Amino acid sequence: MTKRKQKKAQSTATNKETNTPSDDGSFRLLERLAILGDSGYALCGSFLLLMVAVAFSWYADGAGSGTASTGTSEIPALHKNKQVNERDFEEMYEQLGPVPEMRPPVVFSIDDDLDEIHAAYKQEGVVAVRGLVSADLLERLDEASRELITKDPGSKKNQRNKQFHTMQQNPIFLNDWTANTTNTNASATDATISISQHSNPFVQVALLSQVPKLASQLMLPELEANESVRVIRDIFLSKDKEEFICGWHVDDFGFWPATASSPGINAWIALDDMPAVGGGGFALAVGSHATSWRDEAQYVTGATTFYPEEGFQSAADMFANRTGSGTCNIQTAAPHLYRRMEETKRIWDLKRGDIIFHQRWLFHRTVAFERDYVTGENENLVYRRYSVRYAPGSAIIPPGFGTELSVLWDPSNANRTADAVSKLDGPWYPQVWPSANDGELEGLQDLIDKKVPIAQERKLARQKEMQPFLKQAARETQSRQRK
Ligand SMILES: *[C@@H]1O[C@H](CO)[C@@H](O)[C@H](O)[C@H]1NC(C)=O
Ligand SMILES: *[C@@H]1O[C@H](CO)[C@@H](O)[C@H](O)[C@H]1NC(C)=O
Ligand SMILES: *[C@@H]1O[C@H](CO)[C@@H](O)[C@H](O)[C@H]1NC(C)=O
Ligand SMILES: *[C@@H]1O[C@H](CO)[C@@H](O)[C@H](O)[C@H]1NC(C)=O
Ligand SMILES: *[C@@H]1O[C@H](CO)[C@@H](O)[C@H](O)[C@H]1NC(C)=O
Repeated sequence: MTKRKQKKAQSTATNKETNTPSDDGSFRLLERLAILGDSGYALCGSFLLLMVAVAFSWYADGAGSGTASTGTSEIPALHKNKQVNERDFEEMYEQLGPVPEMRPPVVFSIDDDLDEIHAAYKQEGVVAVRGLVSADLLERLDEASRELITKDPGSKKNQRNKQFHTMQQNPIFLNDWTANTTNTNASATDATISISQHSNPFVQVALLSQVPKLASQLMLPELEANESVRVIRDIFLSKDKEEFICGWHVDDFGFWPATASSPGINAWIALDDMPAVGGGGFALAVGSHATSWRDEAQYVTGATTFYPEEGFQSAADMFANRTGSGTCNIQTAAPHLYRRMEETKRIWDLKRGDIIFHQRWLFHRTVAFERDYVTGENENLVYRRYSVRYAPGSAIIPPGFGTELSVLWDPSNANRTADAVSKLDGPWYPQVWPSANDGELEGLQDLIDKKVPIAQERKLARQKEMQPFLKQAARETQSRQRK
């Protein structure tokens, strides 16, 4: 059922009382924005902030469209064009019921009982596991990710407008690791790429390590018999002191290119130690994938569950017809849900190599980096993470206006399953379960050489196409806030 006729919910002004105290910078920024909403200084600051908030949902977070299969019909009228005053807020918050109990934040070990890990994942939608990535592979990831940061022309620039210091989509499609990571075992480097050692450490961890095995095992109850599991998207990210934080959200097609009809699991791998204090890490709203207010939260953040089946037809269509107030803006659009997510927030105390596995529909956000916390020799530390999103082979690649590489390469890949695309057009979504596929691993190089660069160029063109709409949307949000 399509939700496109539902009226677009308007952003509601943040007011001081409806904010719950939060330990991150985004709160302070939004608060200042609201209090000084009519001063020139704040308008300037808030313009940038809003610009980025909209940008993240349509630009960085990509664009696209798909089927709305899990959206609900019961969206409270309060979200529509109505300012959330204190009484509304109290009432809406009351309706959420009491704050649920949470398990203590355990980091499981690879040696723990799988059933126990599974039970925790099922209940909370998320588990953290230690010991899945070997020391050797972590070393190679360390080296490779430093290289990515050095090469990224965007690093260190425009920090004000960014959420991440570095963002590199699809590291499995990068092919220049061979020089420094050549396998010394001669018999493993002949024509057939060895399953045990791939020269790109991101391929190694995403496709060939224990990580996809555990991810697939956690997803098993959601899979059809014999169904494959594939990498639907992988992203390397590093976080410095960027002040913009995208609020609680689930991923758009730019980060999760499958229609809402399929389940999925994100393996979020810490490449640096990330203490629970001091910021820079990852926050998850425990259990939010299965709450009574899940659909409401998805609606106000314009999640892909509320996209039209046939997709948006253009950038104009997306901006005009998407539900809610943008991926990143739940704090102003639905302060009661923001508060509940803050109350059920978990930030793990992570060591390098620890992995957070979370369900596709679990709400999450990054945490502002408190730069004062890292001093001395760690002064230039950035927190690096590599995130691999796994989906069943039956996941459908979204149709409509978007930035998905496989579709930009060949529009008929839209509406195909990930299995079909990979079979017909090359390993855009490489299989990991029940095992990786030798043929696909070999085909990866051809894809990287011949198709990916052309698709990347087309993606840049799409992003340019969206820019005027981003600016316009930011201006409109701005003028609503002024009133
Ligand atoms: C490989 O290592 C050499 C020497 O350590 C270094 O100069 C070079 O930049 C590296 N190559 C790549 C592609 O990183
Ligand atoms: C070298 O590769 C072969 C074939 O993949 C494997 O059987 C052997 O154990 C490897 N040796 C080492 C030292 O890694
Ligand atoms: C499922 O796996 C079994 C055993 O390998 C095989 O016989 C059967 O044909 C498979 N079914 C499908 C639908 O792939
Ligand atoms: C994709 O599928 C949707 C829903 O079945 C349909 O409405 C749409 O026209 C299809 N688009 C393409 C490009 O095939
Ligand atoms: C928004 O959706 C409506 C209804 O489908 C459509 O008529 C309109 O053209 C869309 N807006 C834009 C800007 O495409």
